[in-house]
Amino acid sequence: MNMMPYHDAEFDFDAEILEQGELISDKLNMLRLEQYPPNAMKGLRQFSSVEVADFLGVTQNHIKKLHLEGKGPAPDVSSSGRRSYTAQQMLELRRYLDKHGRSDFKRYVPHRRAGEDLQVISVVNFKGGSGKTTTAAHLAQYLALTGHRVLAIDLDPQASLSALHGIQPELDKNPSLYEAIRYDEHKKPIKEVIRSTNFPGLDIVPANLELQEYEYETPLAASNKNSTEGACSSRAFRPR
Ligand SMILES: Nc1ncnc2c1ncn2[C@@H]1O[C@H](COP(=O)(O)OP(=O)(O)OP(=O)(O)O)[C@@H](O)[C@H]1O
Ligand SMILES: [Mg+2]
Repeated sequence: MNMMPYHDAEFDFDAEILEQGELISDKLNMLRLEQYPPNAMKGLRQFSSVEVADFLGVTQNHIKKLHLEGKGPAPDVSSSGRRSYTAQQMLELRRYLDKHGRSDFKRYVPHRRAGEDLQVISVVNFKGGSGKTTTAAHLAQYLALTGHRVLAIDLDPQASLSALHGIQPELDKNPSLYEAIRYDEHKKPIKEVIRSTNFPGLDIVPANLELQEYEYETPLAASNKNSTEGACSSRAFRPR
């Protein structure tokens, strides 16, 4: 970086900062494109039959027996006889067990009871770096791998939760949560913002830097006495 003395009358500090900022941004984008092209899809490793048995709540022998009887999805089998399943196959096996399970009335696919509301779990902490994103990511992934249908909503302009699931907030031109909560006429239904992730059963509403705008726009919208926008009543936001 070229440094110039601040007392130099000819030196335009603002222009220099912008120029240096753009240079850094270009280089970061170049690195990102090299490491992770925009059309790349994030994958997911396979799961051993020990892990599958653990996630499904059955014994490993039960999984083996089903495979030997040709029931459920066919896993990859290594030369040493180790079985491994994709997360999608694990979900198929869960559905198979739910339909054809033993007579213990055990449900392998979690269900909501009649009249039961959607469960909302928020991961919140004022302190920076306290593990919010890590907790949200692992919790969402664990719930998806145990058969729940999960929608992760990334509320953080940093968008680390989105990036963890292969969404590149700076490069992707896809809409973020901001599109669903903005106050102007361009607001979209949240359904249009949902994207699937590399975990079957886990969808995400991604974040990006635009969410920062929302923090400035909200007090303005709330101060508009003729509008209900920004006046967040718990009833209006109660999920069904
Ligand atoms: N249980 C844990 N054990 C060890 N390290 C952890 C654990 N949870 C999170 N970390 C690490 O701590 C760091 C901060 O975690 P994370 O990014 O999840 O925090 P955050 O609260 O989301 O931060 P921010 O306020 O910047 O959004 C990361 O490097 C993460 O890998
Ligand atoms: Mg975070």
